[in-house]
Amino acid sequence: MSTTERLVSTSPEQTADFAAAFAASLVPGDWVGLTGPLGAGKTVWVRGVGRALGIQEHIVSPTYSLLNLYQGRLRVCHLDLYRVRSSGEIVDFGLDACDDGQTVVLVEWAGNLPELEFPFRWHIEFERTGDRERVIVIREDVLPQNDRMPS
Ligand SMILES: Nc1ncnc2c1ncn2[C@@H]1O[C@H](COP(=O)(O)OP(=O)(O)O)[C@@H](O)[C@H]1O
Ligand SMILES: [Mg+2]
Repeated sequence: MSTTERLVSTSPEQTADFAAAFAASLVPGDWVGLTGPLGAGKTVWVRGVGRALGIQEHIVSPTYSLLNLYQGRLRVCHLDLYRVRSSGEIVDFGLDACDDGQTVVLVEWAGNLPELEFPFRWHIEFERTGDRERVIVIREDVLPQNDRMPS
């Protein structure tokens, strides 16, 4: 099951504000997949989330470093798969530090390596519909209640 929400942003500031509001729904261990073309606003979104979580550093796409860690109210792991061509390339990048169940993990170009099967709860799709207009669709995958029950 899943629920979706569709937002229309007309400025980077508004996108960051939407992201900051979204951040209130995040819990430790959540994975967030961000998809959409270059310049669509994925990093702007991560900055808005970071601001809401009290991260002080300026957040930049980890296009070359692949992964950046931040500590705010929650720990945040920011991944960018833009340049990654195979899952083997990312094993040495400290992914274990993200995958500890305590960290919020935000992944740009989340669709690049489906074989990694990251456990996304949130899927955020960005579409550039104008110079400053972006359509942003947030999908939350909701596990059936039974899946949450201890067996
Ligand atoms: N409504 C909007 N939302 C987000 N970014 C916007 C918007 N309008 C213009 N922009 C611009 O688009 C670019 C988005 O860049 P960025 O977030 O780095 O994209 P991505 O990470 O998806 O490649 C920025 O230069 C930003 O100023
Ligand atoms: Mg980016």
